[in-house]
Amino acid sequence: MPLLQVQNLTVKFGGLTAVNDFSMNIDAGNIHSLIGPNGAGKTTVFNAITGIVRPDSGRILFGEKNLCEEAPHKIISNGISRTFQSVVVFKYLTVLENLYLGYHSRMKLNLLDEFSWKKRNSFTWEMYVKALYIADLLGLKSRLLSYAGSVPFMAQKLTEIGRALMSSPKLLLLDEPAAGLTDIETDQIKDIILRIRKELGITILLVEHDMSVVMNISDIVTVMDFGKKISEGKPEIVKNDPQVIKVYLGEKESA
Ligand SMILES: Nc1ncnc2c1ncn2[C@@H]1O[C@H](COP(=O)(O)OP(=O)(O)O)[C@@H](O)[C@H]1O
Ligand SMILES: [Mg+2]
Repeated sequence: MPLLQVQNLTVKFGGLTAVNDFSMNIDAGNIHSLIGPNGAGKTTVFNAITGIVRPDSGRILFGEKNLCEEAPHKIISNGISRTFQSVVVFKYLTVLENLYLGYHSRMKLNLLDEFSWKKRNSFTWEMYVKALYIADLLGLKSRLLSYAGSVPFMAQKLTEIGRALMSSPKLLLLDEPAAGLTDIETDQIKDIILRIRKELGITILLVEHDMSVVMNISDIVTVMDFGKKISEGKPEIVKNDPQVIKVYLGEKESA
C-alpha cells in the first residue's frame, strides 16, 4: 500500500478551481516530485495534505487515516511535516531553539511528568541529542547558537528543514527548497535531500522549479497543469513526454 494516497482531490477558492480531480500515490522510501508551471496547484496540494486548506471533494489517505478529517496538529503528530515556499524561521530565536520548536509534537509528557525532574531532564536531553544529530546531518552545527535571523539564507532554509525533521516525520513535504539559492547551494540541497532519505529513511514529496534537482534525485515525477495531473512516471519518461515539454519544460527552455 502506498504511504500517501491523494484521491480525486478538488480544491476551489471562490470561482477558481486550484486543484481539479487530482490523484497521486506516494510510495514509502521514494523521493517524489510534484512539478508544473506557476499557479498549477502544487502548494495547494501541500496545504490540503497538511490540513491548512480543506478540499471541496476527494480524500487524502495516510495509512488508514483520511487526513481531510484530521486537525493540522494531529497531522504532524501522525508523521507528516513540511517546509514553506517562503522560508519561515523565528528570527529572534537561535537556530537550536528553532529546531527545538519542531520537537514539541514528540512530547509525551503528561501533567504528572511535568513535576518529575527526572522525566523533564531526560526529555530535554533527548531533544538536545536529536537537534545535534540533525544539525550535523544538515551541516548546521556551527550555527546552532546564532539567531536564525542573522544566519545566511541557505542556513535559514536548512533550519526550517531541520525543524521539520525534529518531529521525526515519515513523510516530509518540501516546497521549493532550491528557490533563491546559488548553483553551489542548489547542489548542496540536492545532497541533503538524498541524505535525509538515506540516513533517516524518510519519504519525500518535493515541489521544485529547478529541473536539475527534480530530474536528478526523483524516483517519480508527477506533473500538474491547471490543477490537473498531466503526466507521471520516472524522470526520464516524464522529461520526454510531449505534453510536459509543451506546458513546462518548453516554457523553461525558451526562458
Ligand atoms: N488562499 C488562496 N485564495 C485564493 N486563491 C488561491 C489561494 N491559494 C492559491 N490560490 C490560487 O490557486 C491557484 C494554484 O495556486 P498554488 O497552489 O499556489 O500553485 P503553485 O504552487 O503550483 O504555483 C493559483 O491560481 C492561485 O492564485
Ligand atoms: Mg507554490
